[in-house]
Amino acid sequence: MGRVLIKGGRIVTAVDDYVGDLLFDHGRIEAIGRELEAGDAEVHDAGGLLILPGGVDVHVHMETPMGNGIETCDSFESGTRSAAFGGTTTIVDFAQQARGESPKAALDRRLAAAETQCSVDYGFHSILTDVNAAALAELPDLVNHEGVSSFKLYMAYPDVLMVDDAAIYRTMRRVGDHGGMVNLHAENGVVIQALVDEALAAGNTSPKYHQLTRPQLMEGEATHRVIRIAELAEVPVYIVHLSAIEALEAVVEARDRGIHAFAETCPHYLFLDKSEYERPGFEAAKFVMTPPLRDRECQDALWRGLRFDDLQIVSTDHCPFCFNEKSHGLLKSKRAGKDFSKIPNGAPGVEFRLMLLYDGGVNEGRINLNRFVQLTATAPAKMFGLFPRKGTIAVGSDADIVLFDPNQRHTLSATTHHSNVDYSLFEGRVVQGKVRKVFLRGELIVEEGAWKGRAGMGRYQRRSASGRII
Ligand code: URP
Ligand code: ZN
Repeated sequence: MGRVLIKGGRIVTAVDDYVGDLLFDHGRIEAIGRELEAGDAEVHDAGGLLILPGGVDVHVHMETPMGNGIETCDSFESGTRSAAFGGTTTIVDFAQQARGESPKAALDRRLAAAETQCSVDYGFHSILTDVNAAALAELPDLVNHEGVSSFKLYMAYPDVLMVDDAAIYRTMRRVGDHGGMVNLHAENGVVIQALVDEALAAGNTSPKYHQLTRPQLMEGEATHRVIRIAELAEVPVYIVHLSAIEALEAVVEARDRGIHAFAETCPHYLFLDKSEYERPGFEAAKFVMTPPLRDRECQDALWRGLRFDDLQIVSTDHCPFCFNEKSHGLLKSKRAGKDFSKIPNGAPGVEFRLMLLYDGGVNEGRINLNRFVQLTATAPAKMFGLFPRKGTIAVGSDADIVLFDPNQRHTLSATTHHSNVDYSLFEGRVVQGKVRKVFLRGELIVEEGAWKGRAGMGRYQRRSASGRII
């Protein structure tokens, strides 16, 4: 691979901010300096641009089966291309164990599907749905030899994905000693199911009942409960897609007591609120994701959490289903479910994370530029065992680099994004700040809106310990 020289940009990491040059060689950052010379190198002028570490998105669901033949509408190919256009160069997706299946077999299945398709680097969390003795016995090997150091469990979706508190405790104890961490979808699934049953029995079937049957209190309760279980098990714990002020309070309370409790939130919880469910007809189905959109009061609390490190990461939970059946078929669309409880849960977002957070966070003065890099690249890389190969700009790190124009204004839209999904949560939103060029391990993959990458060029990332960020 040829050498690449990036000239005269503003290099920003989670702690640095200075003007300089970068030299890439063999896919790594070879040198950082001023007025670097490299006669044979391909030169890119970064004058007026930010030079950022490639984004790391640790919560995405590409080509993911959801049961009954329903599947997310982005393949690894389309989803990682979309990620790249948004400045994300590493994703961590999921390998979900089916009931009775070995977690290692689930991983092998996902690795086989991803290998020829991914155009950014990728890793996997393991999802456990059947915490039996054989599965538990495999976990240390996944951490120590397969590069899977995080295990997701669901406290929601009874009879489908939910596991009980004993399973959570056993998993935590099993992986904790080996450098593994447990990630939780924290909602009280049993109570939520009772609310769903009540709503359906009363004939309330429209999409807005998705929000009305998943109260903030039940996210708060589950978050509090699982942090206490982690405290007992003496392992770090990571709450995924935290949306409710009550859940954030549980995280803050635990962190104040020195418990290693961590959490992410997602752009849709920062920028949208539950008024979206008042859209007419089936339109509100676009916003059926779990947890649902919340009160405006929660947005302010989440921003505060990001600023003061009560929340460590912004990921997307990119879980796309088309709105229209015609786009990619009924089973990849929201139309696969007629009443609210059957509408496939999830929303797209992998392409817009950096641009939304830059515009709504940095430009609006809610977070500074270093914190922006910390939340989108450095902290996810550190939390999930990818740092310092990923998540920063340093000599020896992978040359995953984004040239970002802080001044360019543009409109977010499904008509111009690169995902398979046929709508955007942020349709028509004007943002300032745009990804101009993206390099993956030193190779230019996005250049001024043109695709230069290749399916299959992404590499599997074996991750070291998760959750050892403090
Ligand atoms: O709505 C979402 N988040 N779908 C993905 C599955 C889950 O709940 O994590
Ligand atoms: Zn979830």
